Amino acid sequence: MAVAGRDTNEAVTTLAERTASSAPATAAWPAGFLWGAATSAYQIEGSTAVDGRGESIWDTFCHTPGRVRNGDTGDVAIDHYRLMDDDVALMARMGLRAYRFSVAWPRVIPQGRGAVNQAGLDFYRRLVDRLLESGIEPLPTLYHWDLPEALQREGGWTARSTAHAFATYAAVVGDALGDRATRFLTINEPWCSAFLGYASGVHAPGIENPEGAVRATHHLLLAHGLALEELRAAGVSEAGIVLNLFAVSPATDSEEDRAAARAIDGLQNRLFLDPILKGSYPEDVLASFSRICDLSVIQPEDLPTISAPIDLLGVNYYTRHTVTATPKSPTEGASQWVGAESIGLAEPAGATTAMDWPVDADGLAEVLLQVSCDYDAPPIMITENGAAYDDVVDEHGTIDDPARIAYLDAHIAAVKHAIDNGVDVRGYLVWSLFDNFEWAQGYSKRFGVVYVDYANQRRVFKASALWYQDLISRHTADLGDDES
Ligand code: FCB
Repeated sequence: MAVAGRDTNEAVTTLAERTASSAPATAAWPAGFLWGAATSAYQIEGSTAVDGRGESIWDTFCHTPGRVRNGDTGDVAIDHYRLMDDDVALMARMGLRAYRFSVAWPRVIPQGRGAVNQAGLDFYRRLVDRLLESGIEPLPTLYHWDLPEALQREGGWTARSTAHAFATYAAVVGDALGDRATRFLTINEPWCSAFLGYASGVHAPGIENPEGAVRATHHLLLAHGLALEELRAAGVSEAGIVLNLFAVSPATDSEEDRAAARAIDGLQNRLFLDPILKGSYPEDVLASFSRICDLSVIQPEDLPTISAPIDLLGVNYYTRHTVTATPKSPTEGASQWVGAESIGLAEPAGATTAMDWPVDADGLAEVLLQVSCDYDAPPIMITENGAAYDDVVDEHGTIDDPARIAYLDAHIAAVKHAIDNGVDVRGYLVWSLFDNFEWAQGYSKRFGVVYVDYANQRRVFKASALWYQDLISRHTADLGDDES
């Protein structure tokens, strides 16, 4: 995002140049820096039809033939709903200090609005209690993509009423967990819900309608703002949102590629950062949307709600987009780049993960420095970072995953680099604690530091889990606050 977002003069400033005169690296991490891991409800829980849970758009999507690789579903997932106690014990063994999970809206309010399902709430209260007993900070996220199906029938995120239903749900969860969890996150990666859900249709609800994606974007942001008010009213002390930010750079120095990169930076990053942290949508992105659809969905009085101060910005980082104005082959299917459909991503030149995502740790530092430079940013937490690789279980039953360790090591170093250069980062959460249901890719992509044998639900620490366990114990020992 750094390069694309800037004027031409500044545009080629590299991370090294930006930080050349900066402070030398300090040895220690900031006091209280939180080391943890993240998951989300639909990806791990299973038990989709028990204890009064309603249906979500991901249930419907997975059960529609052709939508998810190999016809996989989250019906069983990694059976976390039933194995929760053991899973928290495993987190404690690993030494995690924080655990980010999501609350499934359809477990709590099965029809999206109306009756509250106490059994659903009780599950999350038990989870939070177990975590606290184990000295692990619970970091609940209210929405990680599993919209109640009943609300989708009313238009889902294209309908303004969904934002209001979300606020009511936020109040219910805030009341139930606010006495025991202090930091809440509202919505995970609104970009994915809006553009993968409603423009390219590769995620639930699988709709291909660019205007729908624009409407969904605004309603997701509005939902965040309304939920924030409810969480505060429930006494939650800290709350924020989670954005998936990408480093973005042009494939070449040509004016066309620079403009293309700026457009992608706008859609991917600024479309979310600007309204939340500046209280206005980026003009260039609005101009391109207005060629496609009417923007009356954005009511002026919504912006103050969306930009109400947050205490924490969750940043999920995976990779860099290298953008070209002249892609070699047209994008297959409907485009996720609403208003910038002719633009494409260049073929990755270096190492990639099993998702074909380029490995680019510098991009994480770049994103963090850029956010803190361009915005009056609140404290940041890396709420997701990690990599899928094709893990192999050897004859001793162990899983050696040096590529994942190298990925995590380099990205953690990038976080440290940003901290040493003045960015206020409060924690780092690996995506993911466990192998799990990776959305449209089903179970084919393994992101966990803990391996899951889907045939019997056995959990096995990969080498990366042992490496992370050691890293946490060294860094928390540094601080003299090791509880063991
Ligand atoms: C993020 C999602 C998370 C997981 C990772 C790989 O976009 O928030 O659920 O799928 O990507």
